[in-house]
Amino acid sequence: MAKMIDGKALATKTKEALKQRVADLKNKGITPGLAVILVGENPASQIYVRGKEKDAKSLGFHSIIDRVPATISQEELLEKVKNYNNDEKIHGLLVQLPLPKHIDKEVITLAIDPQKDVDGFHPVNMGRLFMGDPLMIPCTPFGVMRMFEEYNLDLSGKEAVVIGRSNIVGKPMANLLTMANATVTVAHSRTQNLPEVARRADILVVAIGRAHFVTKDFVKKGAVIIDAGMNHLENGKFVGDAKTEEMDQVVSFITPTPGGVGPMTRAMLMEQTVIAAERRV
Ligand code: GUN
Repeated sequence: MAKMIDGKALATKTKEALKQRVADLKNKGITPGLAVILVGENPASQIYVRGKEKDAKSLGFHSIIDRVPATISQEELLEKVKNYNNDEKIHGLLVQLPLPKHIDKEVITLAIDPQKDVDGFHPVNMGRLFMGDPLMIPCTPFGVMRMFEEYNLDLSGKEAVVIGRSNIVGKPMANLLTMANATVTVAHSRTQNLPEVARRADILVVAIGRAHFVTKDFVKKGAVIIDAGMNHLENGKFVGDAKTEEMDQVVSFITPTPGGVGPMTRAMLMEQTVIAAERRV
């Protein structure tokens, strides 16, 4: 039987630890402020944003959810970003993705002050991470690294395979694993013999956005499986990228969905907002 990596419990612990830091900041007259801009009514985005708001409020943050219609122009959205950049009460700012087609995501990301970019998506933050001197780290890979720490999973010298090369998860994940001295392979949709490549992994991180794509054929005995996939099925079920049930007897550690990577992503967003506020002291 594989051991479950309980992301929900670790997220709760992470947020508990933040409460003292928030109290210390408040004693210095600073309340961590997080602004989230949600454009339009994408159902998944609405769920994610509600979760972020709940966490921010329960930690006593100054929390703003700025809901704007999908018809907002790029200029108007840029204006909003600039206002939050200049707002002293706001330490973390994020624009929920995806954005409507008439808005250029890169232009919006570039407009966010890198010091407030709690998503870690700004090219300055991506570049600093790439160079081994991170300021803000994308929250999902950051949360996955915390899971390795919590479960004392040593990465040094290990074979790590990341399936997926997105800017949000795959690329930063590969970088963080390299910084932790793993030997990293980034595999993706064009990789030949993907199951064979994945079977090299002591640590397999999956982030491709395809429900149940990774089967037991992809895993080596004793491997650690981190499933960062979030797929909403038509029947309303929420599943990862890996068929975790059928791997249970083969692997050593595995993340459940829900209750695995997702809660840690949210917790790390809160932590980075606290870090951004602490930098202001
Ligand atoms: N959409 C899905 N995940 C994310 C995320 O982590 N940040 C933002 N801004 N949008 C998202």
